[in-house]
Order: sequence, then structure tokens, then C-alpha cells
Amino acid sequence: MSEMIIAPSVLASDFAALGDEVDAVIKAGADWIHLDVMDGQFVPNLSFGAPVIAALRKRSDAYFDAHLMVEEPYHLLGDFAAAGVQNITVHAEACRHLDRVLAAIKDFGLSAGVALNPHSPISQIEHVLDKIDLLLIMTVNPGFGGQSFMPTMLPKIKQARQLISGRDIQIQVDGGITATTAPDVIAAGATNLVAGSAIFNHPQGYGAAITAIRG
Ligand code: DX5
Ligand code: ZN
Repeated sequence: MSEMIIAPSVLASDFAALGDEVDAVIKAGADWIHLDVMDGQFVPNLSFGAPVIAALRKRSDAYFDAHLMVEEPYHLLGDFAAAGVQNITVHAEACRHLDRVLAAIKDFGLSAGVALNPHSPISQIEHVLDKIDLLLIMTVNPGFGGQSFMPTMLPKIKQARQLISGRDIQIQVDGGITATTAPDVIAAGATNLVAGSAIFNHPQGYGAAITAIRG
């Protein structure tokens, strides 16, 4: 089995020291930096956009994973590509023409991900499997950090694993991932774990948190 990827979500970090937070969590053993972009429409919250990511790129060469919680993100893809992200994940629910959006991400030479809200069936991505490198199964309703993991998503992760079968597609999970919930999602088939509060609010520091989540 390939190495588990740990992707801390900076949503839970100190925004006043964002650059330092990215450096610190990478130094502590993080594999990717997960960047939660929220538009106040698709989700009831605002976070940050491409200019903030471009500023981070100037000081870090870490793998940037942009999770766009944005309605119809097609017109913004170029901004995120120019900002220097390696992966762009869009929500299936936010794209009327999902296939076209995913093809556009690939045309920028980037890794393409598709995210599913808790209520969305796995079948929604059945016909775009040839265009994705990553499938994000949301384990909370997106919009906020610090929510409780939904154990009802475990069978869905297993279903995703079956559907993907031999394809080279990562299964990422996001929402309520901690050292306690990580073993279950890993057993179900997740290969890429996003964690915000469990890492940035850990009393023993980022390194201890990442080690605990890796298990
Ligand atoms: C939720 C975001 C998550 C969030 C995870 O809308 O997509 O990435 O920051 O935060 P925790 O790990 O605290 O649930
Ligand atoms: Zn996220």
C-alpha cells in the first residue's frame, strides 16, 4: 500500500501568521497543504482566495491542494493555476458541467479532484473517473472546521474504493478527522486525510498531531 498522505487544512491555523503556519506544519511532517476556499454561496462561509494562495506560494514549495467550495468554479480555475496550486478539487454539486470543469483543470496540467457532499451518492462521479486523480468524500457538511465526523460516511468510502478498483485515484476524506476517526477511514479505503482542528489545535503540537493521525 502506498504512503498515507496527511493534508492539514490551514482553515484552523492562525490566519494572522499564515505563512509561518504553513512552514511549521510542513516541518512537522505534513505531506500536503489543504486550502479551503469558500465563496459564501456554495457554503455559508467565506475564507480566502487565489491571491492569498499566490502569496503563500512565494515562500513555500509545499504541495498545495485547493478545495474549492465555490459555485460554478470554472471561471476561477486559471487564477488558482496561476497561484501555483498542484491540485484543484471542485464539488460535483457546484458544477453543472462537471466533465468540462475537470477537463479544464487537466488542461492546466494540474491534478483534478472532485468532492462529494455527505448527501451525494458515489454514482455522481461514475462517468468522470477517467478525468480525476482524487475523489474527496466529505465526512462533514462543508463550510466550517471543527465539526464532528459522520460515521455514516464509512460505507460510502468503501463503495468509492470498490468503484475506483485498480485506478490510480486517491480517496481523500475531509471533516472531523482525528487520531480517533483516522483508523476507521483508513480501514474503509481512504488514502489521503485532511485534518484542520486536530492538527492546529493539538496541545502537544503539530508533529505529535500528525504522528497520532498516521497511527
Ligand atoms: C470543511 C473543510 C475542511 C475543514 C476540516 O468545510 O473542507 O477542510 O477545514 O476541518 P476539521 O478537520 O476541523 O473538521
Ligand atoms: Zn477541505
